[in-house]
Amino acid sequence: MSEQKITAVPLLDLKAQYETIRGEIEPAVKAVMESQYFILGPKVKEFETHVADYVQAKYALGVSSGTDALLIALMALDIQPGDEVITTDYSFFATAGSISRLNAIPVFVDIEPDTYNIDPAKIEEKITDKTKAIIAVHLYGQSADMNPVMELAQKYNLRVIEDAAQAIGTEYADGRRVGSIGDIGCFSFFPSKNLGGFGDGGLVTTNDAHLAERLTYLRNHGAHPKYYHKMIGGNFRLDAIQGAVLDVKLKHLDGWTGGRQKNADYYDAEIDSRELDKFVSVPRRVAGGRHIFNQYILRVQNRDGLLAHLKKQNIGSEVYYPVTFNNQECFTYLGYKKGDFPEAEKAAAETLAIPIYPELTTEQQNYVLDAIEEFYR
Ligand SMILES: Cc1ncc(COP(=O)(O)O)c(C=O)c1O
Repeated sequence: MSEQKITAVPLLDLKAQYETIRGEIEPAVKAVMESQYFILGPKVKEFETHVADYVQAKYALGVSSGTDALLIALMALDIQPGDEVITTDYSFFATAGSISRLNAIPVFVDIEPDTYNIDPAKIEEKITDKTKAIIAVHLYGQSADMNPVMELAQKYNLRVIEDAAQAIGTEYADGRRVGSIGDIGCFSFFPSKNLGGFGDGGLVTTNDAHLAERLTYLRNHGAHPKYYHKMIGGNFRLDAIQGAVLDVKLKHLDGWTGGRQKNADYYDAEIDSRELDKFVSVPRRVAGGRHIFNQYILRVQNRDGLLAHLKKQNIGSEVYYPVTFNNQECFTYLGYKKGDFPEAEKAAAETLAIPIYPELTTEQQNYVLDAIEEFYR
């Protein structure tokens, strides 16, 4: 049998995944349609029970997106205008945007250059008497260093939110699952995430019954009971169709994560054996942790040249993220300047993501590796 010649590799191939679960998804979605029960309800509750177990948190509540998960988490922790919330300078916009949307003040911290996560050694110098919380982000699917973060939180009486949007099933070095370590964990079910819905969706997790209650009310305009508003919340509810889809997909998540890990191991080994490590480097894998590889990131020489070369070879690659928070136009009012966060800014200039999705074949990975090799040769 002649092998089909590969001429393109996408960054993500959701159709390939769908083909493997179509037979389970279609009846699950049909059941929601037959029930005509579309928002929250029994299907979402069922999913919440399963996902709480998966994340190893006592409570899990489906919400409308990962962004809304962050917003509702800050609201549940009663973050007020003028309060300072410390977070990384290098993440998806929502991490910082959610703080500003409550008129609180995001305070940025540089990253560790080898994991791209917040550098815990640089947090304490940013704590003031206005600091109320820390948002630690588990970027790309690897846990931030949580012990020092939790120690600082205890020392200064701060609350901790975990932005685990890219990190469902990720484990910290001590084996705890992310989203179960801080006060509230926030997850995204954006379709490109390891557990992706058929549209927007998100999750908040907590081990604290009082916070779980506040989150439940805030998710539905702060009402309890219906039409009696204890607090001002919003419409942050998850749709039943998403609950049904996510509940089916959750059963496959460990298999898919295993596929991503295998692909990451293959890239790592090939980068080594092809001696590409002179030109590209991969993040440090923290011993004892579980990295779920939502993204596989390379730090490279001549990043923009390589991006253009990969594009020419029809290989999907993306920069996560080209602009750090301190250099975002909308945060000019915070008074930071270029160069304030050298490691984050270097990462923004030197890194890119290459395809890592579970259905990727060895032949496709070799096509990607050949293209990288050709560029540097
Ligand atoms: C680190 C991080 N935080 C927050 C979000 C926001 O999630 P969503 O897109 O579901 O609103 C994302 C998703 O892209 C993310 O990667």
